Amino acid sequence: MIRKKGQFIRLDTVNTTMVLDAEAAEYLYYGSKLNAGWEFGMYAGAGRKMLSAPGKAEYLDYSVVLENADGGFAADFVYSKSKVLVEKPEIAGLPSSYGEGKTLELKYVDAPTKVALYLYYTVFEDSDVIAVSAKIFNGSRKEIRLRRLASLQLDLPGDGYEVVTFEGSWGRECQYVSRVHGGGIFINDSKRGMSSHTRNPFVIAKGGQGVYGFNLVYSGNHKETFDSERGGLTRALVGMNDFMFDWRLAAGEEFASPEAVVCYAPDEDALSGRMHAFVSEHIIRGKWKRRERPVLVNNWEGTYFNFNSEKILAMAESAKEAGAELFVLDDGWFGKRDNDACSLGDWYDNVEKTGGGLAELADKIRKIGLSFGIWVEPEMISEDSDLYRSHPNFAMKIPGRTPTRMRHQLMLNMADEKVQNYVIRVISDVISRSDAAYVKWDFNRSMTDCYGKGIVAGEYFHRYMLGYYRVVSKIVKKFPFVLFEGCASGGGRFDLGNLCYFPQYWTSDDTDARERISIQRGTAYGYPQSAIAAHVSACPNHQTGNTNSLRTRFAVCCGGVLGYELDTTKFTPEETEEVKEQIAFYKQNRKLLQFGEQYRLEGAGIEGFMTVAKDKNTAIAGVFLMERHTFGPLPTVRFKGLNAGVSYEVSVWGQEGSFRANGDLLMNGDFPLADLFDFETAVKNSGGVMSRMYIFKKVKA
Ligand code: GLA
Repeated sequence: MIRKKGQFIRLDTVNTTMVLDAEAAEYLYYGSKLNAGWEFGMYAGAGRKMLSAPGKAEYLDYSVVLENADGGFAADFVYSKSKVLVEKPEIAGLPSSYGEGKTLELKYVDAPTKVALYLYYTVFEDSDVIAVSAKIFNGSRKEIRLRRLASLQLDLPGDGYEVVTFEGSWGRECQYVSRVHGGGIFINDSKRGMSSHTRNPFVIAKGGQGVYGFNLVYSGNHKETFDSERGGLTRALVGMNDFMFDWRLAAGEEFASPEAVVCYAPDEDALSGRMHAFVSEHIIRGKWKRRERPVLVNNWEGTYFNFNSEKILAMAESAKEAGAELFVLDDGWFGKRDNDACSLGDWYDNVEKTGGGLAELADKIRKIGLSFGIWVEPEMISEDSDLYRSHPNFAMKIPGRTPTRMRHQLMLNMADEKVQNYVIRVISDVISRSDAAYVKWDFNRSMTDCYGKGIVAGEYFHRYMLGYYRVVSKIVKKFPFVLFEGCASGGGRFDLGNLCYFPQYWTSDDTDARERISIQRGTAYGYPQSAIAAHVSACPNHQTGNTNSLRTRFAVCCGGVLGYELDTTKFTPEETEEVKEQIAFYKQNRKLLQFGEQYRLEGAGIEGFMTVAKDKNTAIAGVFLMERHTFGPLPTVRFKGLNAGVSYEVSVWGQEGSFRANGDLLMNGDFPLADLFDFETAVKNSGGVMSRMYIFKKVKA
């Protein structure tokens, strides 16, 4: 709810309140919900600003940096007016959140230049999230240059916040990293032209009074800054990265930032719950928003490039027998693509490998009783491709320089409308001719040689993103029934921008269950499990050499959207039976596992997740014993999210028997995991992670 009284504006969600002094552009309060009231006068003037620009005696990092026509950088944005918009405005060319939220528009003007800064605060009451964006309007008669525009400035009281980031690398995404911000500037950013494996845009600031979560609805370069002098506040800035950013704004033009989101919560568990609700309700959209996602089999780790139609059909048969619903044909089906050095851009069928073409193969798979999915990597080009030979200018490279190759490939210059239209045409054709029900949209390198003829260098990164969003939005709109899964060598572009188009995302190229536990746990801090694609793969694992039991590999995937990525024709009869049981169990509990409220579980040497139905009548917990020591402490766990006042029947999946316990005991007591370790299984699986899945059912009164 948005309410105004004089210069004060209250933004209330179910559990939080933000109070603004619109005239002073200051935050007076942001935290747990306040009772009704307007006596904020004594809280004014603490200097926690909503915007900042150079030119005043204020030296924390700035939210807006302009180069004016007069040659100076100064700007003094003074309050002009505010309005409450009943309909949330779209941000031209960019993805953004949607839904009930009412939007506050605030206008500030720099009088000498007549440049206006608009700030937008959209309130999502149900998920306790506020979405914030900024817009610059050049009201002067001359061109100005925009050097930085943060989407959100939130000055937090005090300093010494613990800043949590989700960092990693290829195959090791979203590792929880925390440090105390003792002063100076801390930056979490990406300059890779993608939100990145290395530093996800989701960040948390933890203080004595609670935790604040920040994210950005953008898939390109981002920057989250925490700046404090020992002056009693910490400035948080969230937005596009200003690295190599220099945007020309002619008289009368405007520039809109992507949207940042911010959420206050008393602790990390509540923060994740709120972010999950927000992403599920106000970011993910379309036919698949609340629809149960199919159990798929993907051939990548089963065959890599080495397949033909007989192999694929045999895999599809065995996938069907095990209970899978969708077969995904991954990389290698097009051009002359038998390795990763060629053919990107040649999106026509390799007739030999597909046994007569994609349409025919897809039909045969559908006849087996599975729906058909296809892999594409639309933004890339191999130099060894017909596309490159006929259109070398489509590639992103700087004239006179040898371009940097990654995985042997170059990128397309998606900032060019001709290239965008080409991609829309050829990728739409792949989807139409195969009648695909699912598309995996991959992106396997970072940007290096940013250049497009006629494009100002300082505008390139963002123009690429605008081009990318134009392409992906048109394709997704054209195929509303298709389930799109994003991918960027795993989770390299796992962000809110992409989730506006792709309801789910390939979380990591590392499919080792042990590694996946921390990758998925980190990812799930800011993103719901319905977006987290997780596949059971072969052992020893192809990335790490680790071995884990089929049971553990499956249990880990129950924390997300289940798939299998291995050669299903190699299952032993026992494995086929086990996988059948797994898929049957998953399907039976899919609604709960994919759309229930998910919590993290922990204990000494223990990791886990717990997914609880909204009515709290049922729940499933996956518990993992990460370490084992002789005579180590007895591992224990506290369950979460249950109804404290009711009794539950608890069983272990795959085991006889059950026990009863009250919700409050299950949540507050240290449940002994005495029988989690068994020597025989440990030896058989070379010391892999031990696991249990607990099933909770409310005892009927
Ligand atoms: C990337 C993806 C993988 C697979 C390969 C195919 O690495 O993350 O899942 O699709 O590309 O080349």
